[in-house]
Amino acid sequence: MILFYTILCLIPCTWAMERRMIEPPIRVDLSSPGDVQFFSTSDVKTSWITMPIDHFDPQNKDTYQMRFMFNDEFFGGDGYPIFILVGGEWDIVEGWLRAGNMYEAARENKGYQFYTEHRYYGESLPYQNFTTQNLRFLNVDQALADLAYFISEMKSHPRFANSKVVLYGGSYAANMVIWFKQKYPHLVVGGVGSSGPILAKVDFTGYLEVVHQAFLSEGGEQCIATIRQGIADTIAAMNTEAGRRELERNLRLCAPLDYNNEYELGFLSGLISWTFSTSVQQARPGSLRTICDNFATEAYGTNPMEKIGGYIATIRNLGEDDCWNINYENYIEGYRNRNTNSRAWYYQTCTEYGYYQTAPRIGTVFDQLRWLSVAFYVDVCKQAYDPSFDEAFVYAAADRVNRVYGGLEPKVNNTVNIHGIIDPWHALGVYEEDLSETSPTYTVPRASHCFDMQRWLRTDTIRMTNAQQAARRLIASWLK
Ligand SMILES: *[C@@H]1O[C@H](CO)[C@@H](O)[C@H](O)[C@H]1NC(C)=O
Ligand SMILES: *[C@@H]1O[C@H](CO)[C@@H](O)[C@H](O)[C@H]1NC(C)=O
Repeated sequence: MILFYTILCLIPCTWAMERRMIEPPIRVDLSSPGDVQFFSTSDVKTSWITMPIDHFDPQNKDTYQMRFMFNDEFFGGDGYPIFILVGGEWDIVEGWLRAGNMYEAARENKGYQFYTEHRYYGESLPYQNFTTQNLRFLNVDQALADLAYFISEMKSHPRFANSKVVLYGGSYAANMVIWFKQKYPHLVVGGVGSSGPILAKVDFTGYLEVVHQAFLSEGGEQCIATIRQGIADTIAAMNTEAGRRELERNLRLCAPLDYNNEYELGFLSGLISWTFSTSVQQARPGSLRTICDNFATEAYGTNPMEKIGGYIATIRNLGEDDCWNINYENYIEGYRNRNTNSRAWYYQTCTEYGYYQTAPRIGTVFDQLRWLSVAFYVDVCKQAYDPSFDEAFVYAAADRVNRVYGGLEPKVNNTVNIHGIIDPWHALGVYEEDLSETSPTYTVPRASHCFDMQRWLRTDTIRMTNAQQAARRLIASWLK
């Protein structure tokens, strides 16, 4: 997924050439509903609610406009339920109220659908200028309070006075569903959390471990061997001048790297690992197999190093004349002083979750990319936000979240907890046991991130469909 890229024609460059940037897949973007197609003509409308900026300081009267969307096509009237799709670190879009598992649940239960936007994302901006100072009201505690305020406001309308409320959320928004049910059980009857990484963790080696496992289980030993060799050859090439030029050519870099800068090599490691990560995070049954088939032929290149570069260019749709801008200063600049979803989310990783996808140390193909260190990821916190956001700060921030929300042991009833085995994020979720007697966990083989939120797809396995249906059956039981 191309999350941000810039056109920077600093050096003599042809009019068509694009210098593209990438960012780590720490931020999940559910703003486009995958390969869901829309035959539906259902009418989705947008509205705004005035929201306190600080829910925890009665003396602070500042407000902002929070965006939400709604779809009333199935609503049965008095006493019928409200479904809220919880927005996370992305722009809300209408498509998610036109198809998908929550849409089906709304249809089955004659529910009213809402989609709420998370503060500081999309158009729900408490401040236009995202200075570090202005970001201090960006945290999950405030975002859950927004949701509580929203529900109270809606329930104050006679039309919804007797409506029960069900939440649905994916990724970080799945955490929000689970944590909301725990913190505000009086406001909702239940929720579905899809792929929630509910444990905050700074040195998240487990992520790339799952990416490796996913390629192994879907693509086989041979595929892993080729990838391992390609990365090894890339690293070995760094040792000579000729090797470096070959590396830059194979990976389609815009300019020679600064091989003395560990963080620039971290960024280069990211170009490689984040691409494999993105393939896995968005995988559907068969998609990794296809990539491995290409690694086995000459589709991506002739030797292993070439294949790595060809794979990245193909997966990320790099144009013929385009190149990767792997300049560390430009990378940091991408997070500085701009009101983007990327800046907002990286701030939340520094101050709440970590989630840094560091090099594993158990023999995966990514172990070799040792520049993917905590120091590399935390340097963005220091440079783009505040020098005091150092490693000790980030570790303490993650500890706070785990203390406040219970880490892997949240106390909830009526909360469905869904994970996919090849989803790298499941490593920070509860996937081997139920959350409680009334809160079952469904961990589905071959499934990836937030698979259950989509509508039915041809590639879905029976296990995937079963998990979606199980969630809907539980929802129906809460609404009896
Ligand atoms: C945001 O605020 C900072 C600090 O006051 C200022 O330097 C910067 O120019 C502002 N940015 C915008 C886009 O207004
Ligand atoms: C969940 O429900 C059970 C049974 O009613 C109850 O004993 C328990 O306290 C509930 N837990 C929470 C966290 O509400």
